[in-house]
Amino acid sequence: MSSSATGAAKPTVTVTLDGSNRSTRLPVLSGSIGPDVVDIRKLYGDLGVFTFDPGYGATASCESKITYIDGDAGVLLYRGYPIEQLAEQSDFIEVSYLLMYGDLPTPSQLEAFRKGVTYHTMVHEQLRRFFDGFRRDAHPMAVICGVVGALAAFYHDNLDINDPHQREIAAYRLIAKIPTIAAWAYKYSIGQPFMYPRNDLSYAENFLYMLNAVPSESWKPNPILSRAMDRILVLHADHEQNASTSTVRLAGSTGANPFACVAAGIAALWGPAHGGANEAVLKMLGEIGSPENIPQFISEVKDKNSHTKLMGFGHRVYKNFDPRAKIMKETCHEVLAELGIKDEPLLDMAMEMERIALSDDYFIQRKLYPNVDFYSGIILKAMGIPTSMFTVLFAVARTVGWVSQWKEMIEDPSQRIGRPRQIYTGATQRDYVPVDRRG
Ligand code: SDX
Repeated sequence: MSSSATGAAKPTVTVTLDGSNRSTRLPVLSGSIGPDVVDIRKLYGDLGVFTFDPGYGATASCESKITYIDGDAGVLLYRGYPIEQLAEQSDFIEVSYLLMYGDLPTPSQLEAFRKGVTYHTMVHEQLRRFFDGFRRDAHPMAVICGVVGALAAFYHDNLDINDPHQREIAAYRLIAKIPTIAAWAYKYSIGQPFMYPRNDLSYAENFLYMLNAVPSESWKPNPILSRAMDRILVLHADHEQNASTSTVRLAGSTGANPFACVAAGIAALWGPAHGGANEAVLKMLGEIGSPENIPQFISEVKDKNSHTKLMGFGHRVYKNFDPRAKIMKETCHEVLAELGIKDEPLLDMAMEMERIALSDDYFIQRKLYPNVDFYSGIILKAMGIPTSMFTVLFAVARTVGWVSQWKEMIEDPSQRIGRPRQIYTGATQRDYVPVDRRG
């Protein structure tokens, strides 16, 4: 990362502590695009102060070459390629290669990668028994969080994260096995037999097969649903340093194995403020019930005391339309039309809600727009995916992003264990008082 390609004096920021003669000059570093950063690594040493940024809204936690977001312009690039072009022209396996290795693959590289993933989709037969420990009504996110973490128990002799080959094989295993584990979590919840992966199907087809097929009938991929599923996986594959990716990086910075790190990412993604929002959107639309109730709901959202959020709206980074939401909305119309679903009340309601919200000052002032989760649930419901599986599907797609970011971090020579500090506002030092002298 160079702060000045022209050889001109490198920009700096000077920080001076008022009331003291202490100041320090901090280097300003530039990336290839996007905001510059102030390198504060020597701030505490020079001035004895920390920075304070709860939620890390203004903090760059790492250097990365994987995904770039311009929140004001509504731009999302995977390794420089616009998400709109990848969603339209690429597929999930090719995008996975791109995220992992940094460039679009040649035909032979793509074929080798596709094969490599295909031949790792089966899981150890003992892992099947892991599911039996769960109640049938367990949330599938609880199941996949446990089962993915347990993968480390099956590869304990292959977890040397400093060995590039072992890192790569772990990456393949996670990308390949997460759809199998996710589909089995669903089958377990409905008491149907597990369907083993098929090597003659594409990644998206195989996932739909393991979710929907039963041993007693033959199953044929539906090209419309497979294409829609593949596109949804592409849209969810990576998204810079979001909460779950930052969780994976922080866990990985301790040297924890990649299966444990991805399990931590799944746990973080589950939250309704993050990946759990797609499930929460459907619940919200169901509770609102019909379009005439939307104005009442919107006024509840605007009432601070109600703590009601318009799920699927707003974003820490996007202060414009989330480009993924636009593509998701188009895909929604395509899938419903191709499935012959004339009117989907949920879609009508979502579109009416978007129309009302985007003309309301509360949302305009706060730059709240639909995000990736606002329409995804409606497509998934139309495709027959149960609501409880929406966030699981998000985790299936995001596994390649987590693994790519984890790999980038481990291979970054400047990476060190993540250990944030704090501002302490608790009790200052005081002496212990025995219980018989208290009260
Ligand atoms: C994802 O980070 C990523 O990249 C995540 C993600 C990815 O791909 O990894 O994009 C996936 O998580 C998408 C977001 C899904 N979550 C939701 O849809 C849940 C609803 N959204 C909100 O919870 C919220 O918008 C967040 C969590 C997404 C962002 O929260 P921020 O950045 O902390 O924003 P904020 O809470 O500071 O909001 C600023 C203002 C506040 O009002 P004021 O206090 O200024 O009066 O906007 C309000 C908030 O109350 N606000 C909302 C709102 N989101 C923010 N008000 C009503 N409904 C909302 N959805």
